[in-house]
Amino acid sequence: METDSSLPGLLRNALRHTAQTVAVVTTGGPEARSAMSATAVVPVSMDPPSMLFCVNRGASCFPLFLEGHGFCVNLLAAEHQQLAEQCSGGLKGEARFAAGEFATHPNGVPYLPSALASIFCVQDGRYLYGTHAVVLGKVTEVRLTDKRGPLLYYDGGFRRLPIADTPPEGQDQGAVMGEEGDW
Ligand SMILES: Cc1cc2nc3c(=O)[nH]c(=O)nc-3n(C[C@H](O)[C@H](O)[C@H](O)COP(=O)(O)O)c2cc1C
Repeated sequence: METDSSLPGLLRNALRHTAQTVAVVTTGGPEARSAMSATAVVPVSMDPPSMLFCVNRGASCFPLFLEGHGFCVNLLAAEHQQLAEQCSGGLKGEARFAAGEFATHPNGVPYLPSALASIFCVQDGRYLYGTHAVVLGKVTEVRLTDKRGPLLYYDGGFRRLPIADTPPEGQDQGAVMGEEGDW
C-alpha cells in the first residue's frame, strides 16, 4: 500500500476498500466512437431510470461526450478482464473495437453484446468538476445476458468473486447478509 499522506493519497488508499464492478462505457456514432474501462458509474434513480458517469476530461472519449452523444454502460463479466485492460490504455482508439466483439445499436451507439448488461443512456446533463465531468444519463434501454460472475476492481487490481458462475440449484451466490434489497 502507498504511504502517500497527502489528502488525495489518503483518499486513494481509502477507496482501495471499495469493490466496483468494471464497465466499458461506449459512446459515439458512425464518424467517431470510443470504448473506455470505467468504475465511476453509479445508478442515480429508478424514477426516472438514470445513471451517472464520471469521465476524465483528458480521456480521448471526452470530446464525444461534449458533442452530446448517447452512451452505453456495459457491465463486464470476469471473462472480460483482458478487454478491460485493453480499454484502459492497453490499446487506443479503434483498436479497442477490434479486440472485443462490439456491435452497433440502431441508435448508432456501440455496445458489447456479451456484457452482463448493456445500459443505454441519452445524456440528460453534464457538470464539469475539476479534472472530470459528471455525465447524467437517462436510461432508454437495458439488455441483459445470462447471469455470470462480474469483473471487479478492488485494492488496485482486477478480481473475481470467489463463487461459481452458476450457483447450485436453489442456492444464492455468495453470502447475503439479511434481506436482499433493491432499494
Ligand atoms: C478499473 C479501471 C477503472 C477506471 N475508471 C475510470 C472512470 O470511471 N472514469 C475515467 O475517466 N477513467 C477511468 N479509468 C481510466 C480509463 O480507462 C483510461 O484512462 C482510459 O481508457 C484512457 O483512455 P484514452 O487512452 O482513450 O484516453 C479506469 C481505469 C481502470 C483500469
